[in-house]
Amino acid sequence: MLPAPPLLAVTHADPYPYYAALAREKPLYRDDALDLWIASHPDTILAVMRAPAARVRPPSEPVPKGLCGGPAGELFGRFVRMNDSAVHTRLKGLLAAFIQEQGARACTPQWPAMPATDAAAVDHWLTAAPVHAQAAFLGLAPALQADSAAQIAAFLSALPATADASQVAAGHAAARALQTRLESFLLADDVAPALRTLRDDGARADIPVAVLAANLAGLLFQSGEAGAGLLGNTLVHAGRRGLAAAEASADAEAIVGHVIRHDPPLHNTRRFLADTLTVGGQRIEAGQTVLLVLAAAASVQPDASWTFGALGHACPGQGLARHHAASALSHLLRAGADPAALAFRFRYRPLPNARVPQFAF
Ligand code: HEM
Repeated sequence: MLPAPPLLAVTHADPYPYYAALAREKPLYRDDALDLWIASHPDTILAVMRAPAARVRPPSEPVPKGLCGGPAGELFGRFVRMNDSAVHTRLKGLLAAFIQEQGARACTPQWPAMPATDAAAVDHWLTAAPVHAQAAFLGLAPALQADSAAQIAAFLSALPATADASQVAAGHAAARALQTRLESFLLADDVAPALRTLRDDGARADIPVAVLAANLAGLLFQSGEAGAGLLGNTLVHAGRRGLAAAEASADAEAIVGHVIRHDPPLHNTRRFLADTLTVGGQRIEAGQTVLLVLAAAASVQPDASWTFGALGHACPGQGLARHHAASALSHLLRAGADPAALAFRFRYRPLPNARVPQFAF
Protein backbone atom coordinates (compact mmCIF):
# COMPACT_ATOMS: atom_id res chain seq x y z
CA MET A 1 0.00 0.00 0.00
CA LEU A 2 1.41 3.39 -0.97
CA PRO A 3 1.89 5.92 1.81
CA ALA A 4 0.00 8.85 0.19
CA PRO A 5 -0.29 11.65 1.16
CA PRO A 6 3.41 12.55 1.14
CA LEU A 7 3.56 13.60 4.79
CA LEU A 8 2.86 10.00 5.84
CA ALA A 9 5.73 8.70 3.72
CA VAL A 10 8.35 10.05 6.16
CA THR A 11 7.47 7.37 8.71
CA HIS A 12 6.48 4.59 6.28
CA ALA A 13 8.54 1.37 6.32
CA ASP A 14 9.43 1.64 2.60
CA PRO A 15 8.27 4.90 1.00
CA TYR A 16 10.79 4.82 -1.85
CA PRO A 17 8.67 3.20 -4.60
CA TYR A 18 5.99 5.79 -3.78
CA TYR A 19 8.49 8.65 -3.97
CA ALA A 20 9.77 7.41 -7.35
CA ALA A 21 6.20 7.24 -8.71
CA LEU A 22 5.40 10.69 -7.29
CA ALA A 23 8.40 12.35 -8.94
CA ARG A 24 7.66 10.62 -12.23
CA GLU A 25 3.89 11.07 -12.37
CA LYS A 26 3.05 14.13 -10.27
CA PRO A 27 6.10 16.42 -10.30
CA LEU A 28 3.97 19.35 -9.05
CA TYR A 29 0.37 19.22 -7.87
CA ARG A 30 -1.96 20.72 -5.34
CA ASP A 31 -3.20 18.57 -2.44
CA ASP A 32 -6.48 20.16 -1.37
CA ALA A 33 -6.83 18.03 1.76
CA LEU A 34 -3.40 19.13 3.02
CA ASP A 35 -3.83 22.66 1.62
CA LEU A 36 -0.33 22.32 0.17
CA TRP A 37 1.33 22.31 -3.22
CA ILE A 38 3.67 19.33 -3.56
CA ALA A 39 6.86 19.54 -5.65
CA SER A 40 8.69 16.24 -5.97
CA HIS A 41 10.83 16.28 -9.12
CA PRO A 42 14.30 17.91 -9.13
CA ASP A 43 13.16 20.34 -11.85
CA THR A 44 10.03 21.54 -10.04
CA ILE A 45 11.85 21.75 -6.67
CA LEU A 46 14.65 23.82 -8.20
CA ALA A 47 12.15 26.08 -9.99
CA VAL A 48 10.45 26.83 -6.65
CA MET A 49 13.73 27.26 -4.78
CA ARG A 50 14.99 29.71 -7.43
CA ALA A 51 11.92 31.96 -7.26
CA PRO A 52 12.45 35.11 -5.16
CA ALA A 53 8.78 34.85 -4.11
CA ALA A 54 9.43 31.48 -2.41
CA ARG A 55 10.48 32.20 1.18
CA VAL A 56 11.80 29.94 3.93
CA ARG A 57 9.26 31.37 6.41
CA PRO A 58 5.68 32.54 5.95
CA PRO A 59 5.95 36.32 5.34
CA SER A 60 3.20 36.90 7.93
CA GLU A 61 4.93 34.74 10.56
CA PRO A 62 8.73 35.06 10.41
CA VAL A 63 8.91 33.51 13.90
CA PRO A 64 6.48 30.87 15.25
CA LYS A 65 3.67 32.78 17.00
CA GLY A 66 4.05 30.99 20.31
CA LEU A 67 7.68 32.14 20.64
CA CYS A 68 7.19 35.82 19.80
CA GLY A 69 8.33 38.38 22.33
CA GLY A 70 10.79 36.10 24.10
CA PRO A 71 14.40 34.88 23.79
CA ALA A 72 13.44 31.74 21.83
CA GLY A 73 11.66 33.86 19.22
CA GLU A 74 14.57 36.26 19.03
CA LEU A 75 17.06 33.40 18.56
CA PHE A 76 14.92 31.69 15.91
CA GLY A 77 14.48 34.96 14.00
CA ARG A 78 18.26 35.40 13.78
CA PHE A 79 18.96 32.00 12.18
CA VAL A 80 20.28 32.14 8.64
CA ARG A 81 18.05 29.11 7.89
CA MET A 82 14.95 31.20 8.65
CA ASN A 83 15.86 34.31 6.62
CA ASP A 84 15.96 35.35 3.00
CA SER A 85 17.40 38.62 1.65
CA ALA A 86 20.86 40.08 1.44
CA VAL A 87 21.65 39.51 5.12
CA HIS A 88 21.10 35.80 4.59
CA THR A 89 23.62 35.69 1.77
CA ARG A 90 26.31 37.62 3.68
CA LEU A 91 25.86 35.60 6.84
CA LYS A 92 25.73 32.29 4.99
CA GLY A 93 29.09 33.08 3.35
CA LEU A 94 30.66 33.82 6.74
CA LEU A 95 29.31 30.65 8.32
CA ALA A 96 30.42 28.47 5.43
CA ALA A 97 33.92 30.01 5.62
CA PHE A 98 33.99 29.42 9.39
CA ILE A 99 33.00 25.75 8.97
CA GLN A 100 35.73 25.31 6.39
CA GLU A 101 38.47 26.99 8.44
CA GLN A 102 37.50 25.26 11.68
CA GLY A 103 37.13 21.94 9.81
CA ALA A 104 40.76 22.08 8.74
CA ARG A 105 41.79 21.91 12.44
CA ALA A 106 39.01 19.92 14.10
CA CYS A 107 39.52 16.26 14.93
CA THR A 108 37.23 13.37 15.84
CA PRO A 109 34.75 14.42 18.54
CA GLN A 110 35.05 13.14 22.09
CA TRP A 111 31.75 11.27 22.25
CA PRO A 112 29.64 11.39 25.41
CA ALA A 113 29.82 8.24 27.55
CA MET A 114 27.40 5.39 26.83
CA PRO A 115 26.63 3.74 30.13
CA ALA A 116 24.28 1.19 28.49
CA THR A 117 23.47 -0.01 24.97
CA ASP A 118 19.82 -1.02 25.36
CA ALA A 119 17.20 0.51 23.04
CA ALA A 120 16.36 3.42 25.37
CA ALA A 121 20.02 4.33 25.85
CA VAL A 122 20.61 4.23 22.09
CA ASP A 123 17.57 6.49 21.49
CA HIS A 124 18.88 8.99 24.01
CA TRP A 125 22.39 8.89 22.57
CA LEU A 126 21.17 9.31 18.96
CA THR A 127 19.40 12.52 19.90
CA ALA A 128 22.22 14.04 21.92
CA ALA A 129 25.30 12.89 19.97
CA PRO A 130 25.00 15.10 16.83
CA VAL A 131 24.65 18.26 18.95
CA HIS A 132 27.57 17.16 21.17
CA ALA A 133 29.68 16.64 18.08
CA GLN A 134 28.75 20.05 16.72
CA ALA A 135 29.43 21.75 20.07
CA ALA A 136 32.83 20.03 20.18
CA PHE A 137 33.45 21.23 16.64
CA LEU A 138 32.77 24.82 17.75
CA GLY A 139 35.35 24.29 20.51
CA LEU A 140 33.05 24.31 23.53
CA ALA A 141 34.38 22.49 26.62
CA PRO A 142 32.88 19.00 27.29
CA ALA A 143 30.59 20.15 30.14
CA LEU A 144 29.21 22.89 27.90
CA GLN A 145 28.67 20.37 25.09
CA ALA A 146 26.29 18.39 27.32
CA ASP A 147 24.52 21.58 28.45
CA SER A 148 24.18 22.72 24.86
CA ALA A 149 22.67 19.39 23.77
CA ALA A 150 20.09 19.60 26.59
CA GLN A 151 19.29 23.23 25.71
CA ILE A 152 18.86 22.50 22.02
CA ALA A 153 16.45 19.69 22.99
CA ALA A 154 14.46 22.14 25.15
CA PHE A 155 14.46 24.73 22.37
CA LEU A 156 13.24 22.14 19.82
CA SER A 157 10.40 21.11 22.17
CA ALA A 158 9.16 24.70 22.31
CA LEU A 159 8.83 25.08 18.51
CA PRO A 160 5.65 23.13 17.64
CA ALA A 161 2.36 25.06 17.86
CA THR A 162 1.24 22.29 20.27
CA ALA A 163 3.97 23.10 22.85
CA ASP A 164 2.46 23.81 26.29
CA ALA A 165 3.33 26.77 28.54
CA SER A 166 6.04 24.91 30.46
CA GLN A 167 7.72 23.74 27.23
CA VAL A 168 7.67 27.28 25.86
CA ALA A 169 9.09 28.65 29.13
CA ALA A 170 11.87 26.02 29.05
CA GLY A 171 12.55 26.91 25.40
CA HIS A 172 12.94 30.60 26.28
CA ALA A 173 15.31 29.78 29.15
CA ALA A 174 17.37 27.48 26.91
CA ALA A 175 17.55 30.09 24.14
CA ARG A 176 18.69 32.77 26.59
CA ALA A 177 21.42 30.48 27.93
CA LEU A 178 22.62 29.51 24.43
CA GLN A 179 22.71 33.10 23.25
CA THR A 180 24.63 34.30 26.33
CA ARG A 181 27.11 31.41 26.25
CA LEU A 182 27.91 31.72 22.56
CA GLU A 183 28.20 35.48 22.73
CA SER A 184 30.80 35.36 25.50
CA PHE A 185 32.51 32.45 23.74
CA LEU A 186 32.84 34.52 20.59
CA LEU A 187 34.02 37.62 22.44
CA ALA A 188 36.64 35.83 24.59
CA ASP A 189 40.22 37.17 24.30
CA ASP A 190 41.59 33.69 23.64
CA VAL A 191 38.99 32.83 21.00
CA ALA A 192 40.10 30.19 18.43
CA PRO A 193 41.45 31.53 15.09
CA ALA A 194 38.44 30.51 12.97
CA LEU A 195 36.06 32.19 15.41
CA ARG A 196 38.22 35.31 15.45
CA THR A 197 38.00 35.41 11.64
CA LEU A 198 34.21 35.03 11.90
CA ARG A 199 34.06 37.88 14.43
CA ASP A 200 36.29 40.19 12.35
CA ASP A 201 34.59 39.41 9.04
CA GLY A 202 31.21 39.85 10.76
CA ALA A 203 32.24 43.30 11.99
CA ARG A 204 33.37 44.27 8.48
CA ALA A 205 30.06 43.02 7.02
CA ASP A 206 28.13 44.97 9.67
CA ILE A 207 26.68 41.86 11.29
CA PRO A 208 26.24 42.27 15.07
CA VAL A 209 28.01 39.83 17.40
CA ALA A 210 24.60 38.84 18.80
CA VAL A 211 23.54 37.63 15.34
CA LEU A 212 26.82 35.72 14.80
CA ALA A 213 26.47 34.07 18.22
CA ALA A 214 22.83 33.16 17.50
CA ASN A 215 23.99 31.48 14.31
CA LEU A 216 26.60 29.42 16.17
CA ALA A 217 23.61 28.21 18.23
CA GLY A 218 21.91 27.75 14.84
CA LEU A 219 24.65 25.29 13.82
CA LEU A 220 23.86 23.27 16.96
CA PHE A 221 20.13 23.50 16.20
CA GLN A 222 20.51 22.39 12.56
CA SER A 223 22.62 19.37 13.45
CA GLY A 224 20.11 17.84 15.91
CA GLU A 225 17.10 16.10 14.41
CA ALA A 226 18.55 15.35 10.98
CA GLY A 227 21.78 14.13 12.58
CA ALA A 228 19.82 11.72 14.78
CA GLY A 229 18.04 10.48 11.67
CA LEU A 230 21.25 9.94 9.74
CA LEU A 231 22.89 8.03 12.57
CA GLY A 232 19.73 6.03 13.32
CA ASN A 233 19.11 5.06 9.69
CA THR A 234 22.77 4.09 9.40
CA LEU A 235 22.46 1.79 12.42
CA VAL A 236 19.33 0.20 10.93
CA HIS A 237 21.11 -0.33 7.63
CA ALA A 238 24.16 -1.89 9.32
CA GLY A 239 21.82 -4.17 11.29
CA ARG A 240 19.84 -5.25 8.24
CA ARG A 241 23.00 -6.09 6.35
CA GLY A 242 24.22 -8.10 9.32
CA LEU A 243 27.51 -6.21 9.41
CA ALA A 244 29.91 -7.23 12.15
CA ALA A 245 31.14 -4.36 14.34
CA ALA A 246 34.67 -4.32 12.91
CA GLU A 247 33.38 -4.47 9.33
CA ALA A 248 30.86 -1.65 9.87
CA SER A 249 33.45 0.55 11.63
CA ALA A 250 35.99 0.10 8.85
CA ASP A 251 33.39 1.00 6.26
CA ALA A 252 31.48 3.64 8.24
CA GLU A 253 31.86 6.55 5.78
CA ALA A 254 30.67 4.38 2.86
CA ILE A 255 27.69 3.10 4.86
CA VAL A 256 26.69 6.67 5.72
CA GLY A 257 26.98 7.60 2.02
CA HIS A 258 24.74 4.69 1.07
CA VAL A 259 22.11 5.74 3.63
CA ILE A 260 22.16 9.34 2.39
CA ARG A 261 21.40 8.05 -1.12
CA HIS A 262 18.85 5.37 -0.28
CA ASP A 263 17.27 6.04 3.13
CA PRO A 264 17.90 9.74 3.83
CA PRO A 265 17.23 11.43 7.16
CA LEU A 266 15.39 14.52 5.92
CA HIS A 267 12.54 14.04 3.44
CA ASN A 268 10.85 17.44 3.17
CA THR A 269 11.32 21.13 3.43
CA ARG A 270 8.92 23.97 2.67
CA ARG A 271 8.64 27.28 0.88
CA PHE A 272 6.02 29.98 1.50
CA LEU A 273 4.93 32.18 -1.38
CA ALA A 274 5.08 35.94 -0.95
CA ASP A 275 3.80 36.42 -4.51
CA THR A 276 2.18 34.34 -7.25
CA LEU A 277 4.46 31.93 -9.04
CA THR A 278 4.08 29.94 -12.26
CA VAL A 279 5.93 26.64 -12.48
CA GLY A 280 5.59 24.30 -15.47
CA GLY A 281 2.46 26.19 -16.57
CA GLN A 282 0.76 25.87 -13.15
CA ARG A 283 -0.02 29.03 -11.23
CA ILE A 284 0.52 28.98 -7.46
CA GLU A 285 -1.12 31.84 -5.59
CA ALA A 286 0.57 34.13 -3.07
CA GLY A 287 0.07 32.85 0.48
CA GLN A 288 0.32 29.19 -0.55
CA THR A 289 2.84 26.74 0.91
CA VAL A 290 4.87 24.36 -1.25
CA LEU A 291 6.16 21.12 0.22
CA LEU A 292 9.48 20.24 -1.44
CA VAL A 293 9.81 16.46 -1.27
CA LEU A 294 13.60 16.12 -1.25
CA ALA A 295 13.41 12.34 -0.81
CA ALA A 296 11.39 12.05 -4.03
CA ALA A 297 13.96 14.15 -5.92
CA ALA A 298 16.60 11.73 -4.60
CA SER A 299 14.80 8.85 -6.32
CA VAL A 300 15.50 10.62 -9.65
CA GLN A 301 19.04 11.79 -8.73
CA PRO A 302 20.33 9.50 -5.95
CA ASP A 303 23.85 10.95 -6.05
CA ALA A 304 22.80 14.59 -5.71
CA SER A 305 22.60 14.60 -1.86
CA TRP A 306 19.06 15.98 -2.01
CA THR A 307 18.59 15.40 1.70
CA PHE A 308 20.92 18.40 2.24
CA GLY A 309 18.81 20.69 0.06
CA ALA A 310 20.04 22.74 -2.90
CA LEU A 311 20.80 26.25 -4.16
CA GLY A 312 20.78 29.29 -1.86
CA HIS A 313 19.71 27.60 1.38
CA ALA A 314 21.64 24.35 0.82
CA CYS A 315 23.15 22.86 3.96
CA PRO A 316 26.67 24.11 4.72
CA GLY A 317 27.13 21.25 7.23
CA GLN A 318 26.96 18.31 4.84
CA GLY A 319 30.59 17.24 5.15
CA LEU A 320 30.50 17.53 8.93
CA ALA A 321 27.21 15.64 9.19
CA ARG A 322 28.68 12.75 7.17
CA HIS A 323 31.89 12.69 9.17
CA HIS A 324 30.15 12.89 12.56
CA ALA A 325 27.64 10.15 11.67
CA ALA A 326 30.41 7.78 10.59
CA SER A 327 32.44 8.47 13.72
CA ALA A 328 29.34 8.10 15.92
CA LEU A 329 28.49 4.76 14.29
CA SER A 330 31.97 3.41 15.09
CA HIS A 331 31.69 4.70 18.65
CA LEU A 332 28.28 3.04 19.18
CA LEU A 333 29.61 -0.26 17.86
CA ARG A 334 32.71 -0.11 20.06
CA ALA A 335 30.47 0.61 23.04
CA GLY A 336 28.62 -2.66 22.29
CA ALA A 337 25.39 -1.56 20.56
CA ASP A 338 23.87 -4.43 18.56
CA PRO A 339 22.59 -3.10 15.19
CA ALA A 340 20.95 -6.42 14.18
CA ALA A 341 18.85 -6.49 17.38
CA LEU A 342 18.01 -2.78 17.02
CA ALA A 343 17.02 -3.15 13.34
CA PHE A 344 14.72 -6.04 14.26
CA ARG A 345 12.28 -3.84 16.21
CA PHE A 346 11.87 -0.10 15.77
CA ARG A 347 9.46 2.50 14.47
CA TYR A 348 9.90 6.07 13.24
CA ARG A 349 9.31 9.10 15.40
CA PRO A 350 6.13 10.90 14.30
CA LEU A 351 7.95 13.90 12.75
CA PRO A 352 6.78 15.76 9.64
CA ASN A 353 10.13 16.04 7.85
CA ALA A 354 12.86 13.98 9.51
CA ARG A 355 13.04 10.17 9.41
CA VAL A 356 14.37 9.25 12.84
CA PRO A 357 14.12 5.67 14.11
CA GLN A 358 13.01 5.06 17.68
CA PHE A 359 14.09 1.77 19.22
CA ALA A 360 12.43 1.90 22.67
CA PHE A 361 8.64 2.19 22.77
C1 HEM B 1 22.21 14.69 8.49
C2 HEM B 1 22.35 15.91 8.87
C3 HEM B 1 21.81 17.10 8.13
C4 HEM B 1 20.85 17.19 7.13
C5 HEM B 1 20.09 16.06 6.47
C6 HEM B 1 20.70 18.60 6.82
C7 HEM B 1 19.83 19.09 5.87
C8 HEM B 1 19.64 20.42 5.60
C9 HEM B 1 18.72 20.97 4.61
C10 HEM B 1 17.79 20.15 3.73
C11 HEM B 1 18.83 22.31 4.64
C12 HEM B 1 18.09 23.30 3.73
C13 HEM B 1 16.69 23.54 4.13
C14 HEM B 1 15.92 24.33 3.09
O1 HEM B 1 16.43 24.71 2.03
O2 HEM B 1 14.73 24.58 3.34
C15 HEM B 1 19.82 22.64 5.64
C16 HEM B 1 20.18 23.91 5.96
C17 HEM B 1 21.14 24.20 6.90
N1 HEM B 1 21.94 23.32 7.58
FE1 HEM B 1 21.86 21.33 7.50
N2 HEM B 1 21.57 19.31 7.60
C18 HEM B 1 22.26 18.45 8.40
C19 HEM B 1 23.25 18.76 9.30
C20 HEM B 1 23.74 20.01 9.52
C21 HEM B 1 24.86 20.32 10.36
C22 HEM B 1 25.73 19.32 11.12
C23 HEM B 1 24.99 21.66 10.34
C24 HEM B 1 26.02 22.50 11.06
C25 HEM B 1 27.23 22.67 10.65
C26 HEM B 1 23.97 22.21 9.47
C27 HEM B 1 23.77 23.55 9.21
C28 HEM B 1 22.79 24.05 8.38
C29 HEM B 1 22.52 25.48 8.21
C30 HEM B 1 23.24 26.63 8.91
C31 HEM B 1 21.49 25.56 7.29
C32 HEM B 1 20.82 26.84 6.77
C33 HEM B 1 21.45 27.24 5.46
C34 HEM B 1 20.71 28.35 4.78
O3 HEM B 1 19.55 28.61 5.10
O4 HEM B 1 21.31 28.98 3.90
N3 HEM B 1 23.24 21.18 8.99
N4 HEM B 1 20.31 21.48 6.19
